Amino acid sequence: MDWVSNRWLSMLFLALAIVATSVYGEDSDPKQDIELQLVEKFSKGKYSRKGANDCLRCHDDESEQSAMGIFDNIHGNVRHPDSPMNANQCEACHGPLGNHARKPRGNKPREPMITFGDLSPVSAEKQNSVCLSCHTDSGRAAWHSSEHAFEDLSCSSCHKVHQKQDPVMVPELQTEVCTNCHVRTKSDLHKRTSHPILNGDMTCSNCHDAHQTVNEYSLKWRSINDSCFECHAEKRGPNLWEHEPVSEDCSLCHNPHGSINQALLIKRPPQLCQDCHKVPHANVDVPNGDLRVRGGSCMNCHTQVHGSNHPRGRVLSH
Ligand code: HEC
Ligand code: HEC
Ligand code: HEC
Ligand code: HEC
Ligand code: HEC
Ligand code: HEC
Ligand code: HEC
Ligand code: HEC
Ligand code: HEC
Ligand code: HEC
Repeated sequence: MDWVSNRWLSMLFLALAIVATSVYGEDSDPKQDIELQLVEKFSKGKYSRKGANDCLRCHDDESEQSAMGIFDNIHGNVRHPDSPMNANQCEACHGPLGNHARKPRGNKPREPMITFGDLSPVSAEKQNSVCLSCHTDSGRAAWHSSEHAFEDLSCSSCHKVHQKQDPVMVPELQTEVCTNCHVRTKSDLHKRTSHPILNGDMTCSNCHDAHQTVNEYSLKWRSINDSCFECHAEKRGPNLWEHEPVSEDCSLCHNPHGSINQALLIKRPPQLCQDCHKVPHANVDVPNGDLRVRGGSCMNCHTQVHGSNHPRGRVLSH
């Protein structure tokens, strides 16, 4: 047995054993019964000797539960040295065959296999331990402390492995996957101004790492501003005259996902500015009747809202 299946087995045993002990003593429920059955199956570890060929007797294109899509996916590619197809094949993910291929007696259900996704009776944590047994690289290791792990998402909430292209990995299709759950973000993307995300020029994963929450909001960078500077380097400064909120947090004025206002602004100027500058020009000789003030935009005069390098730019007007 190779390293992959060994490690996988020991991790899964551990996870299943913990659940098994916590389950005994409670009222039986069909989901837990299936988990218990799987625990037992694992302890027996009866793998098929014919591997995938055995499964395909019943899961080929002719069957209702066709599994052939896996061969269009990287996980079905035998040329990849670490591919499941070079280890326990289908059983590397779905667990040992056991008696699953036996015709069930009477009204009994067929012996279960591990299944994935929201409808699976197997808990998200255990589903994920299967995937994580191979995906142990540093990024994935942070998964356990991520917001998505806390919310009990499974890898399969986002990833599809039984098809050629996993939509969440395709820029034009990723948004759909994420906004199925993040409906508020979805509606923001359709507002008057937004980052070019809907057309796939940018993706959620340009800014977020769905696998970790080391940084706030699962951002890929240490702070919100660092995320923005990645593409808007000219806003980084330092400037001779800084505008405090700009160096503090771009999202004090901008919604990164979209807005009904120009330039992703969370509010229209002058309200945006007046939220913080309650009494503008109290001591300044700018007549309230000035057309440029009445026009509503403070930026008619304060053109350098992001900071100024002009010697006379103290009030961000040059
Ligand atoms: C003798 C036929 C047969 C063989 C061989 C077989 N299966 Fe199945 N399998 C079925 C049938 C039929 C179902 C449909 C569910 C049921 O009847 O309970 C099923 C269901 C499944 C499911 C669950 C699908 C779902 O929608 O819940 C998985 C996963 C699965 N099989 C994987 C495998 C794997 C992996 C192998 C090989 C190691 C395999 N099967 C071998 C007949 C078979
Ligand atoms: C890399 C792990 C992995 C491998 C290898 C794998 N599967 Fe799956 N299988 C999954 C996941 C995850 C799903 C849930 C659907 C998805 O993600 O695309 C699934 C779904 C299924 C289903 C249910 C299909 C449905 O429409 O609900 C069956 C049956 C199945 N697999 C059988 C197999 C067989 C047979 C093989 C080998 C030929 C195989 N799987 C190889 C992970 C795997
Ligand atoms: C037996 C080992 C093994 C298991 C189990 C496994 N994978 Fe993989 N996976 C691989 C290998 C090998 C690759 C290819 C990596 C590469 O090319 O660097 C891969 C690649 C991927 C990729 C990247 C695909 C791409 O298009 O680049 C994703 C996403 C992924 N796996 C998700 C999963 C999920 C979700 C599961 C659990 C349902 C899972 N894997 C289970 C071995 C495994
Ligand atoms: C909330 C959605 C989501 C969940 C849940 C999720 N992933 Fe991902 N995963 C992604 C996205 C998006 C990418 C593409 C990242 C990119 O393009 O930079 C990705 C990429 C990957 C890759 C490709 C290698 C890489 O880093 O680019 C692997 C492997 C992978 N995920 C494995 C997993 C495993 C294992 C789990 C479960 C423990 C998981 N993912 C859970 C969204 C998710
Ligand atoms: C340009 C960078 C960027 C892109 C692209 C981006 N986000 Fe964000 N996202 C942020 C920042 C910055 C925050 C935190 C500040 C805020 O919420 O205003 C955030 C916060 C979030 C939050 C948590 C707060 C909330 O609004 O509920 C979610 C969920 C979220 N983003 C989902 C998504 C999804 C889904 C996509 C893709 C459709 C996406 N983001 C694309 C930068 C981005
Ligand atoms: C199956 C549902 C689901 C999917 C799919 C999903 N998420 Fe989430 N996500 C959640 C839940 C639940 C939370 C926690 C509550 C919240 O903030 O909305 C969350 C939280 C977040 C947060 C805030 C994290 C924090 O640290 O504050 C971000 C950012 C995020 N998701 C981005 C994404 C991205 C990007 C994708 C697609 C690659 C995605 N999500 C796919 C359910 C999902
Ligand atoms: C991955 C690159 C990238 C990141 C990261 C990024 N942006 Fe952008 N931003 C763009 C692109 C591309 C445009 C569109 C430029 C165009 O249309 O000319 C844009 C446009 C904008 C606009 C003008 C929108 C309009 O309609 O006028 C604002 C405001 C903006 N970004 C703010 C931010 C903020 C705030 C952040 C950090 C939360 C951020 N951006 C992070 C790439 C990025
Ligand atoms: C005090 C509010 C405020 C803060 C904070 C702020 N902006 Fe802006 N931003 C604006 C306003 C107002 C506009 C529209 C300017 C105009 O229409 O003349 C704008 C426009 C933009 C634009 C599009 C036009 C251009 O100048 O390129 C980008 C990109 C941008 N901001 C990025 C950022 C980034 C990155 C940060 C954080 C470092 C940030 N903003 C912080 C108010 C702000
Ligand atoms: C989130 C709060 C906030 C918002 C929104 C905001 N500002 Fe400011 N602004 C400040 C702070 C804090 C300072 C520096 C402290 C001070 O002198 O009041 C400042 C300073 C200024 C200064 C004077 C510089 C100086 O040193 O005397 C001008 C001019 C200015 N802001 C214009 C604007 C304009 C125009 C807008 C709208 C586009 C705006 N501000 C939005 C918080 C804000
Ligand atoms: C007609 C041009 C003009 C318009 C429009 C304008 N300002 Fe000013 N603002 C000025 C000038 C000029 C000064 C500097 C006066 C000085 O140096 O003493 C100033 C100073 C300021 C200061 C710094 C006050 C101080 O005590 O140093 C703030 C804050 C400010 N403006 C905010 C705003 C806001 C908010 C708006 C929109 C509601 C706005 N301004 C619209 C011309 C304008």
